[in-house]
Amino acid sequence: MVEWQASSLVGFQSYREPFSELNSKLVRRYLAKYAKPPILEIGSGLGELLRLVPELAGGIILSDIEPELVEILRAKFNGTRVILADVYNLPFREASLGCVVGLSMLDTLSELERAVQEIRRVLKPNSYLVHFQDITPNPYVLFDYYAKLGYTALPVLDNAGSHSLFAILSREQALRLKDNNCNQRLKQYLEKAVESPRKAYSEFIENINIWDVTEAEGLLRELTLASSAVQAEKLSFVEAFATRFNSLLADYFSSAFTEVVTLSETKARGNLFSCVPGFNEFLNETGMLRYSYDLCLGYDRIKLTTQLVVSVARK
Ligand SMILES: C[S@@+](CC[C@H](N)C(=O)[O-])C[C@H]1O[C@@H](n2cnc3c(N)ncnc32)[C@H](O)[C@@H]1O
Repeated sequence: MVEWQASSLVGFQSYREPFSELNSKLVRRYLAKYAKPPILEIGSGLGELLRLVPELAGGIILSDIEPELVEILRAKFNGTRVILADVYNLPFREASLGCVVGLSMLDTLSELERAVQEIRRVLKPNSYLVHFQDITPNPYVLFDYYAKLGYTALPVLDNAGSHSLFAILSREQALRLKDNNCNQRLKQYLEKAVESPRKAYSEFIENINIWDVTEAEGLLRELTLASSAVQAEKLSFVEAFATRFNSLLADYFSSAFTEVVTLSETKARGNLFSCVPGFNEFLNETGMLRYSYDLCLGYDRIKLTTQLVVSVARK
């Protein structure tokens, strides 16, 4: 299981900063519609959600499983109730909460089904679970999920040159791809990935020379075109999480939807933004967050686009 420490979350802050205003608007819109008190936030981390909607400070209970994070939250949000709580075993009575909310939290859980059932237990009838995902859904958890279903997940390059996509191969497809004329690194990757996609992926992430593996997309296409031997399903991390989460919510709640919402605005180019588009793209290695460039805007302005996966389910 991934353990979240303050230091690992601090890294996200600079990626999120430019999108705060846009994300605030979106989060406010959904909470205004679905959140009734008492509101519990699960996995609050360093309090990013409350930073986006500070007006909720007196009307939300923050929580996290990490005592270190709970201490930081208490110091930071004096006047807001903060509790130590495990989402698999919430310290609340059945049907006692008006809303459970999370930000980039549920994608990190290895037992998502169990967490969703526990959240459902503590919600009052007709109240909502609202989850926002603003950073790329956790790939390790997704890769484990597909491994349990008998698939091998393989990262591939997207059109922008980052690996926000992955292919899902059956064991036979993965072995066939490995035995075809693929390069040495891809062969090594597939050898590991057939047994443990998570292990193969973490080694892949640690090694900056990713190209030999991620160029697999071209190879997959060639093989598919040439012989129909490998027909890998290709998904983005965002799509895979949204689809999985929505079907799970639909199983346990009376109504549920998951949608990918985007919002853009044009801003004056501040100190945060380089004149070199590639540099700003690099800043956004969390994947879902992107600056998009409109050359017609000239050098003094920039177009910002944020993307959230918003999931809402009614008990
Ligand atoms: C990716 S972080 C997101 C934190 C924060 N919501 C944000 O968006 O910055 C996931 C958070 O969930 C917490 N967490 C992980 N497992 C948990 C569990 N079983 N119960 C409650 N919180 C948990 C972690 O400690 C971490 O703070």
